[in-house]
Amino acid sequence: MRVWVPVDAAARAVGADEVADALARALPDAQITRNGTRGMVWLEPLVEVERDGLRYGYGPVAPEDVAGLAEVIRTGGDHPLALGPVEELSWMRGQTRLTFARVGVIDPMSTTEYEAHGGLAGLRRALDLGPEKTVEEVTASGLRGRGGAGFPTGIKWKTVAGAKAAQKYIICNADEGDSGSFADRMLMEGDPLTLIEGMAIAGIAVGATRGYVYIRSEYPDAIRQMQAAITVARQAGLLGPSVLGSGHAYDMEVRVGAGAYVCGEETSLLNSLEGKRGTVRAKPPIPALEGFLGRPTVVNNVISLASVPWIMAHGGAAYAALGIGRSKGTIPIQIAGNVRHGGLYEAAFGMTLGQIVNEIGGGTASGRPVKAAQVGGPLGSYIPHWEFDVPFGYEELAGKDGLLGHAGITVFDDCADMLKLARFAMEFCAVESCGKCTPCRIGSVRGVETIDRIAAGDPDAIPILTDLCNTMKWGSLCALGGFAPFPVMSALTHFPDDFSGRGQPRK
Ligand code: NAI
Ligand code: SF4
Repeated sequence: MRVWVPVDAAARAVGADEVADALARALPDAQITRNGTRGMVWLEPLVEVERDGLRYGYGPVAPEDVAGLAEVIRTGGDHPLALGPVEELSWMRGQTRLTFARVGVIDPMSTTEYEAHGGLAGLRRALDLGPEKTVEEVTASGLRGRGGAGFPTGIKWKTVAGAKAAQKYIICNADEGDSGSFADRMLMEGDPLTLIEGMAIAGIAVGATRGYVYIRSEYPDAIRQMQAAITVARQAGLLGPSVLGSGHAYDMEVRVGAGAYVCGEETSLLNSLEGKRGTVRAKPPIPALEGFLGRPTVVNNVISLASVPWIMAHGGAAYAALGIGRSKGTIPIQIAGNVRHGGLYEAAFGMTLGQIVNEIGGGTASGRPVKAAQVGGPLGSYIPHWEFDVPFGYEELAGKDGLLGHAGITVFDDCADMLKLARFAMEFCAVESCGKCTPCRIGSVRGVETIDRIAAGDPDAIPILTDLCNTMKWGSLCALGGFAPFPVMSALTHFPDDFSGRGQPRK
């Protein structure tokens, strides 16, 4: 009998290890596998039991539930935590899981299970097609940078492929610093071989023989899983001097960041990787031409790279057939904050924000009306509930003065004080600023002070804040200072009442 208990950090944080230990004691004959999470965070720890080829879920399971659950697993019968077949749950049925197809399904460290569920088909096809056609396939897919900027991945690869250099690099940006974002982490913990396969394909496509995954130090589980998976991949010949016997060399290793948000910006990341202080470099030169150690470098986010194996296995056209407008394929949406059902939901671009928050997320956890959702991390705009008909896509959100970012959504109910949230954005920027440029370094500090003036009831400070936000938006060197005005200005524009009449007793 086979039983699955997630090894994902979100499940471990609510007792998955204790549940796994208790199950091992109660069911000594069972094979207990630690899988990734299915993304239904409110059901964690979600225990799955295989019966007649189907996986039945139970959750959330506490260690004290295990004795009764073990009896039901042994003898059959009903249990109050029974959820039915996991694949039949509406959260699972509604998704188009391409990048996350294996997460939660397989043992993350088993190359046999990985291949049995479609793994390595993309790499094999890339090796058959050769570098040029692989780049063309990725370009045809319409895949855009999932870290936030949305730059076409195929074009980035073409630039690196065309650069002449003795050594090129593939760097995976796994410094997932956005609050409310966890797709990179879940992928690395639940299906690290997909990321490794994507990076190997990138290496072959552009002629890079070395890669690095730069993971933030706050992700110890992801670091451990990636390191173990790299060892497994080397043993299976997926990495090394001749990838799958092809004659192409590609190998990679994990590097751990030191906890600065700005190191998620690609040039800061490169500095950090080179052992320097993590400050932003001016562009040009772009990393595609002069990146790690001055060599041509692909810097892609985890989800961009992990989307490539599916694209190569099924063809760019199949991927491009999904989505809306210039937002092609699927996007792993991360739903968090004051929401009933938080977690990861992979779907084709195009659902409305309202569908995501109210139908999939089930509205607020508090049961109060939704006031706004912040899309795209701490530097994303607050989209007010009356604009929830906006489709989830790069251009569509930009049309609302918002950004898709890393596709994290944080939900707030009608108790949220938008002035305090605007202040948080400025304070966050002040704390995380690398200090390289004045609009961000000084502007964010003045921004906090100006919002404090508004909070104290000084209406004259409101136009100063607007002016300051414009200076930061257009004058900052990177997205940290340049995007901090988005949450501030969206809060001020959509919820002016939260900014006026402050300092007086509130009605
Ligand atoms: P960017 O627009 O400057 O660059 C996008 C990418 O395209 C970069 O990798 C750049 O090197 C590359 N590029 C540009 N022109 C190119 C060319 N001709 N050939 C090849 N490559 C080319 O944006 P940036 O500063 O890299 O990222 C900003 C985004 O980062 C924001 O939209 C924000 O949403 C996101 N972000 C994500 C975070 C996360 O935790 N995932 C945290 C903070 C920000
Ligand atoms: Fe550094 Fe801020 Fe300027 Fe970016 S915007 S380079 S983080 S000071």
